[in-house]
Amino acid sequence: MSNIAPTSSTDTVAGFLDALRALRRGTGPLAGLEPDSYARDHAAFERLSDQRSLIAEDLAGRLARMGDRPISVLSVGCGDGSLDGRLAAGLVQRKSGRPVRYVGIDPWPGSVELFTATMAALGADELSVEAHVASFDDAPVDETFDVVLFVHSMYYVADVGATLRAALNLLRPGGELWVAIAPSAALNALVGVLAPPLEGHRQWFSADVEKAFVDGGIAVDDVVTLDALVDLASASDEVLDFAVQARLTPELYGPVRAYLGAVSVPGSDGKLRVPHPVDVFAATRR
Ligand SMILES: C[S@@+](CC[C@H](N)C(=O)[O-])C[C@H]1O[C@@H](n2cnc3c(N)ncnc32)[C@H](O)[C@@H]1O
Repeated sequence: MSNIAPTSSTDTVAGFLDALRALRRGTGPLAGLEPDSYARDHAAFERLSDQRSLIAEDLAGRLARMGDRPISVLSVGCGDGSLDGRLAAGLVQRKSGRPVRYVGIDPWPGSVELFTATMAALGADELSVEAHVASFDDAPVDETFDVVLFVHSMYYVADVGATLRAALNLLRPGGELWVAIAPSAALNALVGVLAPPLEGHRQWFSADVEKAFVDGGIAVDDVVTLDALVDLASASDEVLDFAVQARLTPELYGPVRAYLGAVSVPGSDGKLRVPHPVDVFAATRR
């Protein structure tokens, strides 16, 4: 570690990032995350963070404000359905008996299986569920929805502007598009340095989504930042790989953990955690 330690307290954070860049210079891209372990490592990451609860609370509030009429939701990049299951449970627990339609799309079959099982476990007759193993561009969806949501999936699309337009086209007039995506803050600075490119593009962050809304002339109703914290001091190597979106090589774990220590802040219990904000954009189909 001594060869990568920064020289003064004022340059600690930038120094650790520079040290990581230096370690990577002249080497090829790191391996990306494998589909088979992605959902498992994501779940382990979420267990160390309060972010999913904050997102669930925010989105459940938005759904509740839509009233008790029949509702349909399309979740793009639904993953294992942990978040969608909570949202769907909230919709069916409102006891209105109104029909709830919930469609999930994810390219990974294992995730779609888990999404389907999570929804089935709700055991709600009024809940109609469909799931597609597909990326958003290829999904065989031929209906419109009251809500289309992308929770932490917009990073991976080929073209953010085209995706926003296509998502709006899947909404009925008055329907709402919600995009939850991280800004390129302290944690994601590591993604910028370490993650391999995705099919010809880097991972997108919330500034890219904001620009695509502006460039596309799409009015944003509101943007909310949810200030989450994640306890990466106790994270396994696999969870660190998920956090940086790359399979790290052994010499990188020390500097990555040192950087995460340097950007950590005390939580309400005084324990140090890494800031892990997420922005939620909302737009209405006119
Ligand atoms: C970080 S996970 C989020 C999962 C879930 N929305 C949640 O919040 O727990 C991102 C998901 O996006 C999916 N994904 C990646 N590229 C996609 C694409 N082009 N279209 C749809 N989903 C995609 C991944 O397979 C993964 O399950």
